[in-house]
Amino acid sequence: MPEKSGVRQEPDAAFEPEEVRMNQNDPNSTPPVRRKPVRSAAARERSRTLKLLLLIALVLALWVLAIVGIVNLLKRDHTPEPGPADVTTVPQTAEETLPPEDTAPSTSAPDKNGLLFETKEVSTSGIYRGELILVNRDHAYRFEENRETKIISLYTFWRNWPAYSYKLHGSDIQLADFICTKMSEMFDAFLEETGDNGYLITSGWRDYEEQVETVKEMIEKYGSEEEAMKYTAPPGCSEHHTGMAFDAYIYTADGAVYKPGAADMPALYNWIYENGARFGFIKRYDEEKSDITGYSGESWHFRYVGKPHAALIAEKNFCLEEYIDFLRAYTYRNYLEYTDPEGAKYAIWYEKVENETVVTPAVTDSAGTEVAPPVIGDRFPDQAALHLPQGVPCEISGDNVSGFIVTVKLS
Ligand code: DAL
Ligand code: ZN
Repeated sequence: MPEKSGVRQEPDAAFEPEEVRMNQNDPNSTPPVRRKPVRSAAARERSRTLKLLLLIALVLALWVLAIVGIVNLLKRDHTPEPGPADVTTVPQTAEETLPPEDTAPSTSAPDKNGLLFETKEVSTSGIYRGELILVNRDHAYRFEENRETKIISLYTFWRNWPAYSYKLHGSDIQLADFICTKMSEMFDAFLEETGDNGYLITSGWRDYEEQVETVKEMIEKYGSEEEAMKYTAPPGCSEHHTGMAFDAYIYTADGAVYKPGAADMPALYNWIYENGARFGFIKRYDEEKSDITGYSGESWHFRYVGKPHAALIAEKNFCLEEYIDFLRAYTYRNYLEYTDPEGAKYAIWYEKVENETVVTPAVTDSAGTEVAPPVIGDRFPDQAALHLPQGVPCEISGDNVSGFIVTVKLS
């Protein structure tokens, strides 16, 4: 018979019979013959008894095993359901043995618009920067965090701009550099669509000191601080500090001056209210929203917030305070999808930054007496992790309050 697997099996020397070994070194020996021993009748009887006893023992053992098996089965039927700890530590079914990521809600698959999110650490100083920062009496402008904003002379910029599509009240007006471009593009469109260039820029960027002067002038103009402050922000709280806001009047070719929105204003100049959002600008202070904005209506004050946001604000008739509040309900998992009047589709959501608690220890003098108690306060951590779509450009702006607004152009 061929050997299994073709491997030659050597005899196990440990069990080799003694007589075989005795003959191994004798070249004349013949192969050994094993002789069957002759057994007596008594020995045969003992052997039969032994076999019988073994059989009985085997049957008894089988009975014992069968009984133990039945008892276990009955016990299992009445055992209470395992608790959660048992389920997680001892998987019982195929479903329970799946890796956790297969049963947990997935965050690693692209969403319905193909966005695949990853977290990215950003400095929380960015909360105070960006096109959507809310600057009002409650939320002062953060000069330090915006020290890199480039403020330039609008006159210099305007002189070099190809079209003469608007006018300047003075040569000392300044704005953030990118706002000079956005605003000039808007007035170019006005010129192209109407053939007119009557908008007159009367005010742009102001630093803290200039706002102090503005408040003084307004008190003189309105006769009381109370009346003046309906139209003027306290120093530090003006949108003019951002370089993203400007005031405009109307100065026509035949020398007439109009306040925007005034009853006698030619209808042509409603253009900025009807078209400003196409270029990312909003009329910031509506009389009907004065209880929210904190200011009486200012038909001359315009603020840049960016294209999709200006269109949404106009569509929903929000002021900026209402709009930022509205956005706070949207997260990266449940973002706002918005198609603007030009057909561009956007995803917009809010990334809230959670405060951390900081304990400032008590101050003690050299004798160990406490001179100031410990102070417990809240502040933003230095870094925050934002949920951003992988490989897709997005605009991130702080809200100047508690987080970031993310805007993604989907198509
Ligand atoms: N006129 C607006 C409120 C300002 O002073 O900023
Ligand atoms: Zn203004």
